[in-house]
Amino acid sequence: PLFVDKLPRMPRIKGYASRNGSFVPANLTIGMYMKLWKFHRDLPPSKVFAFGESAIKATVPGPSIVAMSGVKTYVRWENHLPEKHMFTIDETLQVAKPARGVPTVVHLHGGVTEPHSDGNALAWFTRNFEEKGPKWTHDVYVYQNADTTSNMWYHDHAMGYTRLNLLAGLVGPYKVVNPELEREFGLPRKKFDRELMVMDKSFTKDGQIYINSTGNNPNIHPEWQPEYFGNVIIVNGKAWPYMNVQRRKYRFRIINSSNARFFRFALDDGSSFTQIGSDSFYLEGPVELKSNLLAPSEIMDVVIDFSKMKNSTVILTNDAPYPFPDGDEPGETDGKVMQFVIKDGNVSDKASVPAQLRPVRRLSEDEAVLSRNIVLYEFDSPSGEPTHLTINFVNFSAAVTELPKIGTTELWHIINLTPDNHPFHVHLAGFQVLRQQKIKDVDELSACAVLHKGIEACDLKKHIDADALSPPRNEAGWKNVFKMQPFYITSILVHFAMTDSNPFPFDPTGEPGYAYHCHILDHEDNIMMRPYMLVK
Ligand code: C2O
Ligand code: CU
Repeated sequence: PLFVDKLPRMPRIKGYASRNGSFVPANLTIGMYMKLWKFHRDLPPSKVFAFGESAIKATVPGPSIVAMSGVKTYVRWENHLPEKHMFTIDETLQVAKPARGVPTVVHLHGGVTEPHSDGNALAWFTRNFEEKGPKWTHDVYVYQNADTTSNMWYHDHAMGYTRLNLLAGLVGPYKVVNPELEREFGLPRKKFDRELMVMDKSFTKDGQIYINSTGNNPNIHPEWQPEYFGNVIIVNGKAWPYMNVQRRKYRFRIINSSNARFFRFALDDGSSFTQIGSDSFYLEGPVELKSNLLAPSEIMDVVIDFSKMKNSTVILTNDAPYPFPDGDEPGETDGKVMQFVIKDGNVSDKASVPAQLRPVRRLSEDEAVLSRNIVLYEFDSPSGEPTHLTINFVNFSAAVTELPKIGTTELWHIINLTPDNHPFHVHLAGFQVLRQQKIKDVDELSACAVLHKGIEACDLKKHIDADALSPPRNEAGWKNVFKMQPFYITSILVHFAMTDSNPFPFDPTGEPGYAYHCHILDHEDNIMMRPYMLVK
């Protein structure tokens, strides 16, 4: 049955402390533990990997970290996971290979973070730091909590393990609060401001999280499959939960932490909602929507006003096909996400949505100091099954090819030669989407690109349709993930400075650098991820 478990509140951890009336950094210790977790009233407990201050306190998703704008947070991430993973590891991928134990490394998604604290895939470590990856340097990570960021999430990023470690539960929300700004905005606060981490999972009859252990091309990759989809929708660690709400406005920070599933969220009574933020950034102004598509790792910050609703229950629904965009339509159950139960009673709702949020300085194409072509390509076996995906026909370990200069803006053309929509994510830098244009004669361009292992030798211009789509209004500001439509070239301006154009508050150059990748985790693991490094 759906809607039998109440939406849980994750434990909250403050990323700051107060001393003599001012805020100072906090030092947190957060571990990763294996434990049992109840995803649904009628489902036996499932083995999970969970973040928490102790094994007992650990939850799925992990604790909600609340950081203070401009005040650093130090986190010692500890690995207390067992010797063996709960899922089958595909050793044929480019994958961390400790002698024993589960490799993990934590990335703060959306964070403006120094290279050594960014969670490089090769900076993994096992239990008690017994073994470490080649790029490991620090056991304590420092987060800047830049004023320009608001919603983020933290998750594992270990080489070749990311899809498995996130499915096992290694995800958690993180937000930067800015009390002054929030008072000025007047948005819903405290218990009327909730995070919703949404992901899909499948389960065995005895309640264990299920992922195939046989690949689609078992002779090449014994376990790996191109996309994981589960038939149970989990919000904040419960399957199809319900939440009691008052007839008033609520703010929801909705994070899609699925491996591969896109969600097109809507309310089943046709009500609209108001988007105020996209990914880690406030929008310039609110955008009224009836539905919104969220790719894996995207965040939408929305206000829902229950005061106008006629029914006493409202369901948050999903009608995005999977794989997106050409897969199956979700059905009765995966088409539903959670239920709001509206309680009657007197409420005084002083919250409001301001007409203006944060000004966005529009980047212009003229300020781009250089342009790069980034090709997304999928290799298939003779039977047409995907074997692996690539960016620019190289894997993660090939030499760094993107070395942007600090403080500059670059024009990146993401050329998607695959039939999939790829949520393209850049660490550290925010970007703005310029346009999307259809690729004419994809087969011809692909043949040329494959032959030359790159697009530079091909006549790209001839293949670009003149008609250009602009990003939708709710994605026209700063982004750190964008949906790369199949057979389109998407042009984005990537800004290698703070989005308010201040310099980074640290030195972002040096090892191990940063990464950009597809956020479909099965693609990221095989091997749609590339490193990049900033230079002076
Ligand atoms: Cu959310 Cu590199 O990841
Ligand atoms: Cu992808």
